[in-house]
Amino acid sequence: MPRLPLLVAAVRKEAADVVAIDLAHPAGRPLPPAAPGSHVRVRVGEGPMRQYSLVNGPDDAAAYRIAVKLEPASRGGSAAMHRLAAGDTVLASLPVDGFPVDWTTGPLLLLAGGIGVTPLLGMARHAQARGHPFALHYFARSAGSAAFAGTLRSAEFAGRATCHFGLDADAVPGRLAAILAAEGGRGTHAYVCGPAPFMDAARAAGERALGAEALHFEYFSAGETDGGADRALTVRLGLSGGTLAVPAGRSILSVLLENGVEVDCSCLEGVCGMCVTEVLAGEPDHRDHFLSDHARAAGDVMTVCVSRARGPELTLAL
Ligand code: FES
Repeated sequence: MPRLPLLVAAVRKEAADVVAIDLAHPAGRPLPPAAPGSHVRVRVGEGPMRQYSLVNGPDDAAAYRIAVKLEPASRGGSAAMHRLAAGDTVLASLPVDGFPVDWTTGPLLLLAGGIGVTPLLGMARHAQARGHPFALHYFARSAGSAAFAGTLRSAEFAGRATCHFGLDADAVPGRLAAILAAEGGRGTHAYVCGPAPFMDAARAAGERALGAEALHFEYFSAGETDGGADRALTVRLGLSGGTLAVPAGRSILSVLLENGVEVDCSCLEGVCGMCVTEVLAGEPDHRDHFLSDHARAAGDVMTVCVSRARGPELTLAL
């Protein structure tokens, strides 16, 4: 994928632990357009490539606009992004249309949990510009932790965006169910992004109210991936030969890279699919949010950044 150096044009504090960052062409040229729901992959220095959803509306080619939440367990990605200042340079991919919108359906119901608001804000802006009916519901622990709360409460989204801040966690599934139930029978499609419990609650209620085919999800973090009880395992390199020991608590990917085995990667969280690798023998223990149920069941590919093995050994096509 082409990568381009982009200039940090602006950094703004958007919430207690969230900064909004505008990335512009170094020569001030317009940037290639991005579909709603797109993300860009960004690298700071020698750190990992991480993906961030764009909040851009259409006709906004002056910058790719992202927001980054500081993760307490950051392995360098979000912390490095929070240290950026105007004038710095990062390496970025072109936009990837990872969470596409189907404009042939009825209204869009956009359900955002926390920093999951970013792709949905972009979708809301595109829907607004096209005159496509939509409603956005934004759940956050508090107003202070809610990025873009001011934007969503502005005249631009009057009557279209509803904030649900400060709800008890136990109350969120019921509120989601009520919102989804009210949309039944209108051809509504729901787009959901948020932490795993939020996604699970939206999926359960959405399947009842709208049907599974009308639900679209984007997992923004695999911090919720089942960590399970990691066991040490042996990885055999089926093409190049060699055997690697993967200790408990280390990812297969990190051991591969450490031993000079080249594997493309980006998110390191089982979300982007860049590290998908063919499995020649052994049974993967899938812990990603990328592969389809069909691909998981087949068991012939796996994301080596987060997934492990059900048995003591795997042979990969590397
Ligand atoms: S690096 Fe993104 S899924 Fe593995």
